[in-house]
Amino acid sequence: MAKICVIGTGYVGLVTGTCFSDMGHMVTCLDINEERIEQLKNGIMPIYEPGLKQIVDQNVEAGRLSFTTSYKDALTDAEFAFIAVGTPSNVDGEADMQYVRMAVTSIAENLDHPIIIVNKSTVPVGTGDWVTEVIFDLNGKQKPAFCVVSNPEFLREGSAVSDFMNPDRVVLGSTNPDAAQKVADLYQALRSPIMITDLRTAEMIKYASNAFLATRISYINEIANICDSLGADVREVARGMGMDKRIGHTFLDAGLGWGGSCFPKDVKALFFMAATRGAHPQLLQAVMDINQNQRIRAVAKLESALGSLKGKRIGVLGLSFKPNTDDTRDAPALDIIRMLLEKDAEVQAFDPQAMAASKAEIPQLILCQNPYEAAKGCEALLLATEWNEFKSLDFNKIKANMKGNVVFDGRNVWDGWELRKLGFTYIGVGVPDPID
Ligand code: NAD
Ligand code: UGA
Repeated sequence: MAKICVIGTGYVGLVTGTCFSDMGHMVTCLDINEERIEQLKNGIMPIYEPGLKQIVDQNVEAGRLSFTTSYKDALTDAEFAFIAVGTPSNVDGEADMQYVRMAVTSIAENLDHPIIIVNKSTVPVGTGDWVTEVIFDLNGKQKPAFCVVSNPEFLREGSAVSDFMNPDRVVLGSTNPDAAQKVADLYQALRSPIMITDLRTAEMIKYASNAFLATRISYINEIANICDSLGADVREVARGMGMDKRIGHTFLDAGLGWGGSCFPKDVKALFFMAATRGAHPQLLQAVMDINQNQRIRAVAKLESALGSLKGKRIGVLGLSFKPNTDDTRDAPALDIIRMLLEKDAEVQAFDPQAMAASKAEIPQLILCQNPYEAAKGCEALLLATEWNEFKSLDFNKIKANMKGNVVFDGRNVWDGWELRKLGFTYIGVGVPDPID
């Protein structure tokens, strides 16, 4: 049993702390957001993540998991301090390190015993060395010993708990093999492959992995756009490609492209790191351009189906950047809605979890209680995020509620042939027109 402090209680920090406590460790989760900590102390989850509340409750009850805003309390006797604060994009695409700097400074100010600092935030290559320097600068050499280990996180929102508990691999980077081994020991119970490497390589593995996944999606979206011109079906193309073991099936779903709090900022940050060191990351530029164009193409497809969008009412199903999360950071749906509003369309939408966050970002957005209400009086209905509950709707009811008959399946989950039989004009992404 180890004593662990986790700094940051967002999607990564709260899941990490909770899962370590579930594995029998004593965990204190710390955040500077007082409201968030107050909510957690009262059993209220500050984020929507399936299965998380139950496991938080169990471990709080068992006395292994607690929450605080005090670095002093959280660090008392802690053997490990995991940093899991945000690293959003600066205007030029560089990772904004202010939260990591604040966290590291607070650790240095409150450190009174040896500790292993584990960096779980996604941070620019070289950050591990930088953290070591910051703590040395602040504490001088007379202060307690510490080591820095990079431990990038690969969980996905919407399946964060099960991803954390069943990782394909655990990556650890350090200049100190003993420290890396001690962190590896925390993960032994998961029985997953553990890779120990140097600090910079571990940091790079995270960026290279996210950029590769984003590349696969942009690739299949480019193929989808070519399918649109040639009358092939990208869903079958992806299936046929995926049967090749060298290619595999995952991350080949064409649609409105990738969003979220990570792919967009991480591809930008990798591009920034490369470009500012004289490299020419042409592929990364194309990956970002294709992704942005996918959103613009969606609006263009609606325009070509409806003519001018001025005064037209459009219903949108799904607002979060992917299903099973309330996270709307860089959600394709919100970007598309902004473009529709700029063209003077009226937009009404429904999402199972992300309505409040979306309304805060786009006050003109009309919120609806369910998919059928979102279809009411609409010329077109756009499926932007493929929540399970949108996959089998009562389309007779949808048709009766709509003013027009255009359905745009932005995630290729509906059956275009069936919808056409019901009198809809079906638009997909790289899916041939059912009339052909
Ligand atoms: P988040 O925005 O959901 O949460 C960050 C939390 O850190 C917030 O609660 C904030 O109040 C807190 N915080 C900020 N500064 C602090 C400080 N000085 N001391 C204590 N708490 C502080 O972020 P997230 O989505 O959990 O991401 C965290 C990091 O993990 C990022 O670097 C991200 O790229 C990476 N990551 C995220 C995911 C994901 O699915 N969200 C997956 C893998 C890696
Ligand atoms: C992603 C990675 O999958 C995680 O491994 C990583 O830890 C995380 O980023 C991170 O660093 O934060 P996440 O953003 O939560 O996880 O969700 P994904 O399932 O990867 O989806 C990202 C975006 O790609 C979503 O907008 C999704 O709709 C889109 N996507 C995904 C597609 O358009 N097609 C696909 O085939 C898969």
